[in-house]
Amino acid sequence: METMTATKKNITKDFLPINGTDYIEFYVGNSRQAAHYYQSAFGFQPLAYAGPETGVRDRASYVLRQNKIRFVLTSPLQPEGNISAHILKHGDGVKVLALWVDDAEKAFDETVKRGAKPYLKPQSEKDDFGEVKRSGICLYGDTVHIFVERKNYDGIFLPGYKTWTPHFKTKNTGLLHVDHCVANVGWNEMNQWVNFYEEVMGFRNLISFDDKTITTEYSALMSKVMSNGNGRIKFPINEPAEGKKKSQIEEYLDYYRSQGIQHVAMATNNIIETVTNLQDRGVEFLKVPATYYDHVLERVGKIEEDLAPLRKLGILIDRDDEGYLLQIFTKPVQVRPTLFFEIIERKGAQSFGAGNFKALFEAIEREQALRGNL
Ligand code: FE2
Repeated sequence: METMTATKKNITKDFLPINGTDYIEFYVGNSRQAAHYYQSAFGFQPLAYAGPETGVRDRASYVLRQNKIRFVLTSPLQPEGNISAHILKHGDGVKVLALWVDDAEKAFDETVKRGAKPYLKPQSEKDDFGEVKRSGICLYGDTVHIFVERKNYDGIFLPGYKTWTPHFKTKNTGLLHVDHCVANVGWNEMNQWVNFYEEVMGFRNLISFDDKTITTEYSALMSKVMSNGNGRIKFPINEPAEGKKKSQIEEYLDYYRSQGIQHVAMATNNIIETVTNLQDRGVEFLKVPATYYDHVLERVGKIEEDLAPLRKLGILIDRDDEGYLLQIFTKPVQVRPTLFFEIIERKGAQSFGAGNFKALFEAIEREQALRGNL
């Protein structure tokens, strides 16, 4: 594909080795209810809690886990302060993309030396289970990266958190790990953040999509996928592009009131089972027209799955040089049309479903039009 370009830059030494995504922290209006939603709808398991009962006076954070995915849901207990301001401005959304590193101080020093704006100076937190070191840098909008060093810690989550064991339990839905997290940035800002990830974080540009690839009759966007040295972390970055009508990225920016995280993609080994389960629990997905399935196998070739359940659930299929992938997108999970989730099963393919962009974005535009924002 002509729009797919791998960078020619060779990263000789990874100055920021990252083991994986450590956790994603959401600032939400009511973390107690949000925690119930992620348990009942998505099958997350209760893990830890910090709040007034554990000596934290200004917030209540619930930590949920499903296999390697950890979500922290945090609400403030008073109108003053950064968390309340964040929620007032953005609505519910992602505040922290936490990255698991071996040396939080070095991660901070190396990135700040290269131009990152500090968010959290390296600090040590201790309890009976050991020590965690954390540091942080600012990203687009009010989003931040926190570097987490936990090699000297064997507690449940972080110092200050207690095990959370509510009576309510649900089965998990087969979500395994975070596959990628996508950011929306403003007009002419994509390359600035591509440069940030290249120069400050030592990432490389894996794939680029221009506005001719990602376009519908009405709106367009551009996207570049940034990946770290070992390929475990992937951050696509979207920017709106000119179209006849308002880009879905602009709608996000209008409602989130700044750049921020658009979607978090979570991997499964059995997307038909996972999505059936999620749908039964009330998760709402975007649907492409049934005609999508009429010719899809001509485009993607042979797949292991029967087409019928994919068609019934609205699961999309795409293929690249290395294999194929199955994916589906939820509707936004809060009242503002901002954050949503992707469920993805990779059968060899390492790409992001470019062949689905048009069908998918037309589905998003139908929802956008219903909101009066197209
Ligand atoms: Fe995605």
